[in-house]
Amino acid sequence: MQNDNTVNKGRRRLLIAGTSVVGAAGAAAIAAPFLTSWSPSARALAAGAPVEMDVSKVEPGQQVRIIWRGKPVWVVNRTEEMLANLPSNDPNLRDPASTVAEQQPAYAQNPHRSRNPKYLVLVGICTHLGCSPTYRPEVAPEDLGAEWKGGWYCPCHGSRFDLAGRVYKNVPAATNLVVPPYFYKDDTTILIGEDGPAAA
Ligand code: FES
Repeated sequence: MQNDNTVNKGRRRLLIAGTSVVGAAGAAAIAAPFLTSWSPSARALAAGAPVEMDVSKVEPGQQVRIIWRGKPVWVVNRTEEMLANLPSNDPNLRDPASTVAEQQPAYAQNPHRSRNPKYLVLVGICTHLGCSPTYRPEVAPEDLGAEWKGGWYCPCHGSRFDLAGRVYKNVPAATNLVVPPYFYKDDTTILIGEDGPAAA
């Protein structure tokens, strides 16, 4: 019969063996991204190469999130109702006309803050301290109030943005969400990261 000491020694050997296996797996996991970084496309991506997206895949009212330059970028397919509701938010917004030039390219300095009103493209980072706001497209949910027409709510300190990424008054964030450079390669394909041949 084994005494406690023998059992403990056996367990220790098992634990050491287990740790080695995890260590080897960890080394492989670290090596994989290192190896792929040698491919030119991965290098280009890391440097901030543009990212292509087929917006026709985004359902009405849906937000799709992709990564560009390591940052989340949202693409929202705004319904007619969402677009129609935008002007009613203006009195409650800090910068309804998007006057802060750094927050969007010139071609997105319009009431819907986009090239094509239907599709909104935004960097998904709160302009207060960098949290990721939550998509809240519903109208007048109990927790956001009767005047809420859809937008984003930042869970960190309560900043609110409408469905054009425009910041509300009396919240910690001072500016609208950023619209990244992008253009339409064709009717449904956008390239995020470039202004395109005609940046107008
Ligand atoms: S980081 Fe969003 S409100 Fe502070």
